[in-house]
Amino acid sequence: MSESTTIRWEQDETGVVTLVLDDPGQSANTMNDAFRHSLSAVADRVEAERDTVRGVVVTSAKKTFFAGGDLRDLIRLRPDQAEQVYERGMEMKAALRRIETLGKPVVAAINGAALGGGYEIALACHHRVALDAPGSRIGLPEVTLGLLPGGGGVVRTVRLLGVADALLKVLLKGTRYTPRRALEAGLVHEVAETPEEMLAKARAYIDAHPESQQPWDAKGYRIPGGTPADPRFAATLPAFPATLRKQTAGAPLPAPRDILAAAVEGSQVDIDTAFVIESRYFAGLATGRTAKNMIQGFFFDLQAVNSGASRPQDVPRHTVRRVAVLGAGMMGAGIAHSCARAGIDVVLKDVSREAAGRGKDHVADLLAKAVAKGRTTETERDLLLGRITATGDLAELAGCDAVIEAVFEDTALKHKVFQEVQDVVAPGALLCSNTSTLPITALAEGVARPADFVGLHFFSPVDRMPLVEIIKGRETGDEALARAFDLVRQIRKTPIVVNDSRGFFTSRVIGQFLNEGVAMVGEGIEPASVEQAAAQAGYPAKVLSLMDELTLTLPRRIRQEARRAVEDAGGTWTAHPADAVVDRMVEEFGRGGRAAGGGFYEYGEDGARTRLWPGLRTHFTRPGAGIPFDDMRDRMLFAEALDAVRCLDEGVLTSVADANVGSLLGIGFPAWTGGVLQYVNGYEGGPAGFVARARELAERYGARFEPPATLASRAATGERYADA
Ligand code: NAI
Repeated sequence: MSESTTIRWEQDETGVVTLVLDDPGQSANTMNDAFRHSLSAVADRVEAERDTVRGVVVTSAKKTFFAGGDLRDLIRLRPDQAEQVYERGMEMKAALRRIETLGKPVVAAINGAALGGGYEIALACHHRVALDAPGSRIGLPEVTLGLLPGGGGVVRTVRLLGVADALLKVLLKGTRYTPRRALEAGLVHEVAETPEEMLAKARAYIDAHPESQQPWDAKGYRIPGGTPADPRFAATLPAFPATLRKQTAGAPLPAPRDILAAAVEGSQVDIDTAFVIESRYFAGLATGRTAKNMIQGFFFDLQAVNSGASRPQDVPRHTVRRVAVLGAGMMGAGIAHSCARAGIDVVLKDVSREAAGRGKDHVADLLAKAVAKGRTTETERDLLLGRITATGDLAELAGCDAVIEAVFEDTALKHKVFQEVQDVVAPGALLCSNTSTLPITALAEGVARPADFVGLHFFSPVDRMPLVEIIKGRETGDEALARAFDLVRQIRKTPIVVNDSRGFFTSRVIGQFLNEGVAMVGEGIEPASVEQAAAQAGYPAKVLSLMDELTLTLPRRIRQEARRAVEDAGGTWTAHPADAVVDRMVEEFGRGGRAAGGGFYEYGEDGARTRLWPGLRTHFTRPGAGIPFDDMRDRMLFAEALDAVRCLDEGVLTSVADANVGSLLGIGFPAWTGGVLQYVNGYEGGPAGFVARARELAERYGARFEPPATLASRAATGERYADA
């Protein structure tokens, strides 16, 4: 019998065994070799001492219940290790299965987050009591890292909830539930307010169920909602491919596809066979490329970014108490909402109290929706609205320790509002502009304290977009940068830090995507194919429809300003092939995008997109102008990745993690890539493969695809993009 080193066995005089998950020396429990061995050892012991064990409580000594798979381990797996991954998964599941089928009551006392492997352990227990700890989350988010739950999560949620609910509520979206919502969704049986109550409830279950088993081990058990063999179930099947399509839009995302397959196939066989199916799919995903990319971008890079890798280290942490939001339009209202949600008092200022009130009404609408959906309570809504003062009066801004400006995009106006407020707010207050296009260094020239001035670029809609791009102007001081960083974390968003440049990082790079799509229309390629290529590349928005949303006039104006700046400085401006198309659309056809009533698409009375504008075919499309579909897809991806490389070369970006996270969370770079520079790393053949393909594209479509020298030298040495 091997020994358990990470699970403590504590048995009381009544025979109840508490299994305490406690990996020594680690801040969290993870699914490592020691844990797998411990689990087998514990299963042996429970079986051997069956007669003296009255019941089992599984809980943890850490703040989280169990953190799931060890991602450091997972990201290093090679394709030739699939068999080993399969064996390890089966070993862990066998141990859990032995405890589950002992006939004694087994209760999970979920004292903190139980995500992924953590919830899978809980699923192997007959009863689940979750502590309503702040920040605690329950669910199976594997899909968001390109994986599937390989510790019995697919097999057991299907048996607990039925195939449809398991897929839609848990597996395909990877939702992280609060304990209360997990209770509503049927993922746990009880919620407790205190650890004592949690343990008391666990014991009460054991006392009431001296013999216990899982519902799926009971005689006559049937999977809720049936299996594909039942006609009732068959009627629900058509919904799945649609859900899958909606989620992947045809992008190369293997996890949702494999999850669907594992769930449906596993529902038609006995539980042991279902475990085999699940582990086979898991091993394929875990050793594949997509999971590596997604773990890098969505976990390691995200962690690096949020933990402050790009924040000046020597500045003490700062908390904002009262913020002035200038401009109560779409962005200002959204920013006010995010700040109030984080407990910050907000003074929302516009040209008049009425105008500011309209912004506050917008916040009230957002909150009403959240209440209707059960995401917040009426009390919380009132509390939050109570924190927002809508005003047209400058004097109200007294005492604000931070300012976020979101007035119209106009340099003179922005200068004016900063001049007005800088002496009204608290001395030394942080001064931020939410400009999306104006260089920060030039804006700072209008304020008395340029060292306190920083760009804080939010994305629309603010309540749903997790990223904020912090822009350091030439004069921005470390103190301001650190405080801006802390403010973004305080409102629970993800900050990336970039140096000032036209379009910063995000707008500049997404501009390359838009330009490439538009350029293809100009080459005579069928616009519908261009849209299809964007979808199949995995972009959440199609390229021409996104262009319409942003308007064709805005990028045109930015381009004209940029051109003037380059030429004023004595440089030569290089036009992009997309420019001529945009100019014709605006000047010749008066199609400036959705807000202007039409652009690449036509729109109905309600503003909904109806169809691609037929004029595109008359004026641009040429029969036989098609290019290989792979080229269409790669042109968009490469245009963005190459520009990110240039941003790094020019010092606009200073960190690879910022690039990956910014591209994933801010501008919809396809999730499966793990981010714009991870795409280069993960390309078939690594940076060398990427460079070879870029040269091919350059030869066919223009010098803009020529890889920069720094990238070419990386290709030669095989060095990947990574932060030190
Ligand atoms: P908006 O037009 O919805 O709102 C601007 C607001 O500023 C209006 O309510 C207006 O009354 C107010 N305003 C004008 N002069 C003012 C003054 N002197 N004092 C106080 N308020 C004044 O514009 P939106 O879309 O909210 O954009 C605001 C800023 O955010 C712009 O700089 C824009 O470039 C930037 N931005 C916009 C994004 C978007 O997707 N719309 C994304 C990121 C940044």
